[in-house]
Amino acid sequence: MTILVRTHRVLAAIFQHCKYSTKTKAISSVHLANKEFPSDEYTNVTPKIISYLGKNLHLQKGNPLAIVRKRIVNYFYSSFTHRGNPIFSIYDNLSPIVTTKQNFDDLLIPNDHPSRAKSDCYYVNKDILLRAHMTAHQSELLRSGLDNFLMIGDVYRRDEIDSTHFPVFHQVDAVRSQRKEELFKDHPDLEIFEPAFDISNPHTFVNTITDPSKQSCHTLEAAKLMETQLKSHLIGLVYALFGKDIKHRWVDAYFPFTHPSWELEIYYDGDWMEVLGCGIVRNEILANAGPNNSIAYAFGLGLERLAMALYKIPDIRLMWSKDSGFLSQFQDKNIDEKITYKPVSSYPQCTNDISFWLPTTLTVDTFISNDFYDLVREIGGDIIEQVKLRDKFVHPKSKKHSLCYSIVYRHLERTLTQDEVNKVHKHIETAVTDMFNVTIR
Ligand code: PHE
Repeated sequence: MTILVRTHRVLAAIFQHCKYSTKTKAISSVHLANKEFPSDEYTNVTPKIISYLGKNLHLQKGNPLAIVRKRIVNYFYSSFTHRGNPIFSIYDNLSPIVTTKQNFDDLLIPNDHPSRAKSDCYYVNKDILLRAHMTAHQSELLRSGLDNFLMIGDVYRRDEIDSTHFPVFHQVDAVRSQRKEELFKDHPDLEIFEPAFDISNPHTFVNTITDPSKQSCHTLEAAKLMETQLKSHLIGLVYALFGKDIKHRWVDAYFPFTHPSWELEIYYDGDWMEVLGCGIVRNEILANAGPNNSIAYAFGLGLERLAMALYKIPDIRLMWSKDSGFLSQFQDKNIDEKITYKPVSSYPQCTNDISFWLPTTLTVDTFISNDFYDLVREIGGDIIEQVKLRDKFVHPKSKKHSLCYSIVYRHLERTLTQDEVNKVHKHIETAVTDMFNVTIR
């Protein structure tokens, strides 16, 4: 509890710091998308993060993310048609401000699940957050009667800072549902549901996920056929993007909203890289949202990873670049053309360390690194390339705890002077001292 209150003050201070550089004072509301949201002890969105809302990189013509988005959409449009018309509808302009019900409850994510933690999400207040995945819209779209749809947009997660992580990234999420008549059109004697499951009273059946191959309400035939389709459709997508030579493997996974679940990895640059999560939608979600006679698969993939691998883009911050040297390499191109990014030039890095003693109320294990990362990004902006935890130290006599982080600074479009970096670094030291009550060593 003390941590919650403390962080609330920390964030309040960040807001204040940006506007008037004054000290800790509680903020009473957050202004977002022309609306005021009351703040509370959960509030941890920062002005920097708020500034990314509405940028919609996935819709900016010539942005690599928009090119990958278009290629994925084309694949689904051309692979799934009914009487010549695409069966998937596309939602790519849904507001990223969602409720905890949309992001978690509707998807059966338990109350104590780590993905709900304040240290992992950007909360506007205890009931509202910036969506942490596009799956947040799955239930409402099912409820509106849709059965095959793609949800594309920006998602927000608190995480470490390095060349492949950015607090805002983009996902394509999808649902493909089928009724018995479609799934088993060649085998009308087969069923989607076990005889013990009553379609008109789905809530009277306890749907378990103890069998690794299927949910207890589904027949093995239905679950296996869906699994086969899901896997072959997604491999087809990966082939369409990377060509048939790409190596892939399936890894068993767990998501609260699908069962069974898998992750797809591709072999890229000497290592396996996870590109998507998927599975058979938990029947409770379908039953709660309406369709009670179909089975569905769902998947979610990250656009940044795919774009970085496809075009050999070395740093995720480049997706946000307005530099013509970057954008011109992707503009006015046939989207299926092979594009290999050529670095415009690589400006030098500057690394400065920061070490501090924690106040007696905190230990090296209770200090929340993500709070520190957000503060560093808030003050340093996009010149922060990486923040690494270098050392945790407990003084043998005084028992005081201390942490040391390395902050790597690099501007993507020009050389930073040491002087300039030192100023930002000093500013970070002051802010860290103010907000976490630490003592710089
Ligand atoms: N929402 C999951 C994520 O962000 C991906 C996913 C979507 C997994 C749909 C299964 C089904 O990691």
